[in-house]
Amino acid sequence: MTARPQEKQTKRKSNQNSWKSNLEESISSTWEDIREIGDQRRSHLSNRTTYVLDDAIHFLSELPPNSIHAVVTDPPYGVIEYEDKHHQKLRSGRGGVWRIPPSFDGVKRSPLPRFTVLSEDELNRLSSFFSALAYGLHRALVPGGHVFMAANPLLSSMVFHAFQTAGFEKRGEVIRLVQTLRGGDRPKGAEKEFSDVSMMARSCWEPWGMFRKPFSGPASTNLRTWGTGGLRRISDTEPFKDVILCSPTRGREREIAPHPSLKPQRFLRQVVRAALPLGIGIIYDPFAGSGSTLAAAEAVGYRAIGTDRDAQYFGIGTKAFSSLSTLDINK
Ligand SMILES: C[S@@+](CC[C@H](N)C(=O)[O-])C[C@H]1O[C@@H](n2cnc3c(N)ncnc32)[C@H](O)[C@@H]1O
Repeated sequence: MTARPQEKQTKRKSNQNSWKSNLEESISSTWEDIREIGDQRRSHLSNRTTYVLDDAIHFLSELPPNSIHAVVTDPPYGVIEYEDKHHQKLRSGRGGVWRIPPSFDGVKRSPLPRFTVLSEDELNRLSSFFSALAYGLHRALVPGGHVFMAANPLLSSMVFHAFQTAGFEKRGEVIRLVQTLRGGDRPKGAEKEFSDVSMMARSCWEPWGMFRKPFSGPASTNLRTWGTGGLRRISDTEPFKDVILCSPTRGREREIAPHPSLKPQRFLRQVVRAALPLGIGIIYDPFAGSGSTLAAAEAVGYRAIGTDRDAQYFGIGTKAFSSLSTLDINK
């Protein structure tokens, strides 16, 4: 005897309830395990957020395979800008790879790392670092898990190539439209003589690479098994889109979380939300800095774990978490 439409609908609902509750149960159990992995210092910022003071590559070697569902991160793209030598220079206001812009109209502008000065040896180190990161993430992500990674137009091709070589599919880029202070300068020392010349275009966008760990079989099976493979829609009528207009991080956020590379909540919350298609899973930020990705995940109701190897930023992040995650981004 064939089932009547109402019976069919009830059966479909009960199937859906059963795969979803199995998935939720398995994610809860993974979460309880991974937030306690290793003996590094950590802070459980909420029931669904943990920040660990650790090197990302080391932490990845301890994470079990297939244990995280998405990565949203803003890495040290030039690698060297957060190495001790240059970092010390930044902290003492002496520059190094960091360009410390002069005050303008009484406003003190934030330092920017200069990616044009990297030597061949530094570029090779950059490639090896992103390779190690990509292989580590590929192992730790579940099939269909997405990576959203901030980059810079000068270095993105190298960094993205490392992810494709490690086995990720490139799924496009999110373009953050943002007016920056990069580029647009006249030739140094000959500004007046060549007043009509800029050495580079003023950069008005920031690329975020979008990658996915491959999976086999239909997308629907992967969604039921791992909760991943796609992107969460903004609404029934609006898919997630790959251009996001978002101004530089504002003063209020910078006061809460004084990190030289702070990313704005307005942008991060949109990306983090899209990264888990069913709204369930674990987000990882290997380079958590001020904890801005962790705060964005908390704001949209997701579990998240972050690492940073710098004790000062770990301290800033743990302190800033509650104010950043409850920040009203519409004000
Ligand atoms: C570009 S910043 C990220 C800032 C972050 N977007 C925010 O809004 O605060 C990169 C961070 O990576 C950290 N870092 C650099 N190398 C690392 C490594 N190997 N493991 C973990 N953290 C690292 C630095 O200390 C720095 O805080």
